[in-house]
Amino acid sequence: MGSLIVIDVHARGVVEDLIASGVTNVSDFDWAKQLRYYWLKDRETWMGPTGQCVAKQTNTQYDYGYEYLGNQPRLVITPLTDKCYMTLTSAMHNQLGGAPAGPAGTGKTESVKDLAKGLANACVVFNCSDGLDYKMMGRFFAGLAQSGAWACFDEFNRIEVEVLSVVAQQVMTITRALQENAEEFEFEGNVIKLTKSYACFITMNPGYAGRTELPDNLKALFRPVAMMVPDYGLIAEIMLYSEGFQDAKNLARKMVNLFRLSSEQLSSQDHYDFGMRAVKSLLVMAGQLKRSEPDLSEDVLLIRAMRDANVPKFLAGSCDAPARACVASRFMVRRGFGVQMIFLSSPQSSAISSQAWRCRPSTTAI
Ligand SMILES: Nc1ncnc2c1ncn2[C@@H]1O[C@H](COP(=O)(O)OP(=O)(O)OP(=O)(O)O)[C@@H](O)[C@H]1O
Ligand SMILES: [Mg+2]
Repeated sequence: MGSLIVIDVHARGVVEDLIASGVTNVSDFDWAKQLRYYWLKDRETWMGPTGQCVAKQTNTQYDYGYEYLGNQPRLVITPLTDKCYMTLTSAMHNQLGGAPAGPAGTGKTESVKDLAKGLANACVVFNCSDGLDYKMMGRFFAGLAQSGAWACFDEFNRIEVEVLSVVAQQVMTITRALQENAEEFEFEGNVIKLTKSYACFITMNPGYAGRTELPDNLKALFRPVAMMVPDYGLIAEIMLYSEGFQDAKNLARKMVNLFRLSSEQLSSQDHYDFGMRAVKSLLVMAGQLKRSEPDLSEDVLLIRAMRDANVPKFLAGSCDAPARACVASRFMVRRGFGVQMIFLSSPQSSAISSQAWRCRPSTTAI
């Protein structure tokens, strides 16, 4: 149900935008850039002339994979994920791979996984380390090429540069076989089958310690896409809708402001994370609270989730500790709050916060 709401809210947004910008032509870019599904009636498949579902985006077309993936959550489609999908689908169209790059928690891995879900293909996520050798990678690629699965190699630039140059040869061999539309090809001394749905993606955090620069011949095989800042407001809003919140727009704005101010004004600690992962876990927690107490006011529920998720992280005795009062009171309960985070617990704010605190004894362990 959550996934359906996420997809439908996005579809509604797309239709609103198309109407607002007066799009009437199917070749208009605003329409063409969407991931669209079509049923090709007279398409031959291995089962006979049964027809085939295809997904189209810009000028690319990709067969739906019919892989059973179960009832999985879907990502909120934002302009950034759209940009990523467009790069990846056009890279696959040219038999190349995709390389989303950017800081931690911007949705690189999840966007690749979500596109795989959208096209119903199996996607293996693999976290690379500097201990990988070319033989291991060779076996991995052979398996992918034969099964037609996708792979997303996380932190690809952790692999040593000597191994990467061999990997470049291996990827090049598969790419060439795909371009030639071969049924079989020779890979690392063996003739193996090639399934056309194969695709390979890599994600990187450039500039992190212990990362290598990719060799140029490898870079040429992957289309880069920069993923810098996720669209926190839109993601929070749509996820709150999917968790059953009515006033999602307002609550999302307040929540995102709180996270932004927390990351700007609190001291810097290793365990503080005000990025997308923290936002996501808070939204899931808010959804659980909403289901357990559906009659409680939505802002109180969100305050409670924020308190449970954030307050235990604040260091006791540091200048961050008084922020707990702001989390509960100043920021959320007061209507028309300002975006100033005040680190003083006034009598008024502590009264409101203790009221919010009392709503439910804190039982959630973080
Ligand atoms: N568009 C989105 N909609 C919903 N959730 C999102 C979206 N983008 C990112 N997220 C969430 O953000 C979190 C981090 O995403 P992900 O793991 O893809 O980050 P990453 O860029 O691969 O980070 P790292 O470099 O650390 O591997 C995940 O929990 C994911 O669900
Ligand atoms: Mg990742």
